[in-house]
Amino acid sequence: MDSFDVVVIGAGAAGMMCAIEAARRGRSVLVIEHGFAPGEKIRISGGGRCNFTNLGAGPANYLSENPRFCISALKRYTQRDFIAMVERHGIAWHEKTLGQLFCDGSATQIVDMLVTEMKRHGAVLRLGTKIDTVERRDAEFILTGPVGQWRAQSLVVACGGLSIPKMGATGFGYDIARQFGLRIVQPRPALVPLTFTPEMLESLKPLAGVSVDGAAVRCGKTRFQEAILFTHRGLSGPAILQISSFWRGGEEIAVSMLPQTDVYATLRQARADNGRQAPQTALSTLLPKRLAQAVVERQAITGTMGDLSDKRLRTIEAAVNDWRIVPAGTEGYRTAEVTAGGVDTQNLDSRTMQARDVPGLFFIGEVVDVTGWLGGYNFQWAWSSGWSAGQAA
Ligand code: FDA
Repeated sequence: MDSFDVVVIGAGAAGMMCAIEAARRGRSVLVIEHGFAPGEKIRISGGGRCNFTNLGAGPANYLSENPRFCISALKRYTQRDFIAMVERHGIAWHEKTLGQLFCDGSATQIVDMLVTEMKRHGAVLRLGTKIDTVERRDAEFILTGPVGQWRAQSLVVACGGLSIPKMGATGFGYDIARQFGLRIVQPRPALVPLTFTPEMLESLKPLAGVSVDGAAVRCGKTRFQEAILFTHRGLSGPAILQISSFWRGGEEIAVSMLPQTDVYATLRQARADNGRQAPQTALSTLLPKRLAQAVVERQAITGTMGDLSDKRLRTIEAAVNDWRIVPAGTEGYRTAEVTAGGVDTQNLDSRTMQARDVPGLFFIGEVVDVTGWLGGYNFQWAWSSGWSAGQAA
């Protein structure tokens, strides 16, 4: 049986960062990954350019049953620390929008950087390796798989969440947590497209591909203003993905497609200027043509602008700027960028990520009940939590 000071399960963003830090401290480190390549989610992230952090990342950008849990790790290892590492490796980057930082080149540069750092500090990476069982014997952890057995003083669980099962996501991290008596906050798909009911889909399916920039989407008191996109199944786009993390089944969301525009005043003016104009033509000065058409049809509006009363104009305005929808559901883990919920932070030390009642057992990254907004916040959590555990494991 091979022995290591630290065994990390999962060669994703968090696991690799933790391995680098623990190895840098002189610990012998093994990273076990069941996939055949490290950092697969990093590689496909940000459309292949990896939105690796956000300049404004702070506790307010994360969801958790305990919103304060992430404060310590985010302070100890900040976005500036990660940017410095990226720059040391000569990786060019740019800010796209809203503080979101992307590689100029390719996301594989980030994976290569992490693998290089692991090697430099002597961390060992085993790919294509499965673990069947984890046990605790005396003060050590024994990991057993079909091809071997490993002994570790510290076990770091960095298996990620359930999102994108075809990329190797498993619930193994939650299983280990339960085995050691830690509570799991019910996992759910987050940063995920929302779906329409069959009735809505029938009339809105022709809009697939239409997008609106700067729409505002609200669920309860939470509001995001970014683009929305109509899909074959419902709604997507950054504003929808953001709100999906806050949305729970059966709740209503309100969409304002033109939050900066007084639609009623604009339509009144259009009616005064040209009463013979079709309502969809007037509306298409504000919205994409197909969408303008759908709004008018869904409100059963007929005739010309001149035929429409102020009340009818108010109806159009509400359809555009206060569109209430109860989504049928989400597209689920198949397309969700992340999994919300996970290992209950009450069970963990916020400075080290170590389980309070199981010395030597650590949980980092997405497996923990800390979920970032869209925009580089999830990777920052992976770096910060991974770095923090790496100082203690
Ligand atoms: P991650 O999932 O990265 O790694 C877990 C690792 O554990 C995987 O390699 C997995 O194969 C391995 N594993 C699982 N079970 C195992 C087992 N039983 N045995 C051994 N290994 C096991 N975030 C962001 O901030 N900016 C972005 O641009 C994007 N873009 C993006 C695009 C897409 C399509 C997705 C799906 C997600 C994003 N994200 C993102 C989210 C981001 O990818 C995610 O939050 C981090 O990868 C989480 O890092 P972790 O290391 O915690 O898990």
